[in-house]
Amino acid sequence: MKVLVTTPNGKVGQEVVRQLQERGVEVRVGAHTVDKARQAFPGAEVVPFDYADEASVREALRGVDALYLASPGDMPAEPVKRVVDLAREAGVGQIVRLSAMGAQHSDNPLREVERHIEASGAHWTFLRPSWFMQNYSTMYADMLRGGALYEPAGDGKTSFVDARDIAAVAVAALTGEGHAGQAYTITGPQALDRDEVAAAISGATGRDVRYVPISDEQLQETMRAGGAPEAYVGLMSALYGAVRGGHSAEVTDDVRRVTGRDPIPFTQFARDHADVWAGELKEA
Ligand SMILES: NC(=O)c1ccc[n+]([C@@H]2O[C@H](COP(=O)([O-])OP(=O)(O)OC[C@H]3O[C@@H](n4cnc5c(N)ncnc54)[C@H](OP(=O)(O)O)[C@@H]3O)[C@@H](O)[C@H]2O)c1
Repeated sequence: MKVLVTTPNGKVGQEVVRQLQERGVEVRVGAHTVDKARQAFPGAEVVPFDYADEASVREALRGVDALYLASPGDMPAEPVKRVVDLAREAGVGQIVRLSAMGAQHSDNPLREVERHIEASGAHWTFLRPSWFMQNYSTMYADMLRGGALYEPAGDGKTSFVDARDIAAVAVAALTGEGHAGQAYTITGPQALDRDEVAAAISGATGRDVRYVPISDEQLQETMRAGGAPEAYVGLMSALYGAVRGGHSAEVTDDVRRVTGRDPIPFTQFARDHADVWAGELKEA
């Protein structure tokens, strides 16, 4: 079996590649930034895969049996649906799709893509994870090195999940039986508020990190100033609204059910990534 893995430089995708390789599965790495993937996966078959370049997608899908399909959080549904169509044309029989917790209750692009996959005739599995722990070791890392965590999360709790666990479920679905037509709600072992997140990172690093709640308006202003598309600003604002409303706290046992082991707790994630937050503390 040959699997095309998309977003191999992403938080989950890089782990999907690693874990498939560990199992001896034949992997084609379909990268947006090809050089980065070549460095990360020496010796692997790395090819270009860009949602904006149909020729790259067609070529990447050639001769593949299964597809791990993920896309950036700000991507609309259409380009992803097009890849699903091209995958079917290329004879890909299985699609494991990275979606998000609660997608089934929304009409956002993630659900639109899920519906398209359901109608595609492929064997599908949906991964619907809670918020990734790895957001704190990647996009929020600079902020945390500064000693503060600014989020419009109020005192809402979130069942953060480690990307390594999401990848483990993806790999089980790609390589095992009984996952076709299944949607997994993938969470960590407990729901934490942002004070507890800051405390866990403080504990792992030995430095003071504190949570500073910001308003929805501040989030929107910051995202717009960073050039985020309006649809993505709206999506993130709604997602944080759900956190403040207590709707991101659901804890499931899907990691254990699918992989046979418990999900990684936040304290372990923080210990494993403590080096990322090392460096000079700036005034927050
Ligand atoms: N983050 C969370 O907490 C969370 C929670 C639940 C669900 N999700 C969902 O999970 C998915 C991924 O999340 P994320 O945004 O956090 O991902 P991410 O780890 O930032 O990865 C996104 C990847 O998309 C790749 N990419 C960018 N433009 C591309 C293009 N034109 N063609 C192909 N690949 C492209 C990037 O590749 P390069 O690095 O090579 O440029 C990057 O590695 C999203 O659908 C999101 O809604 C996220």
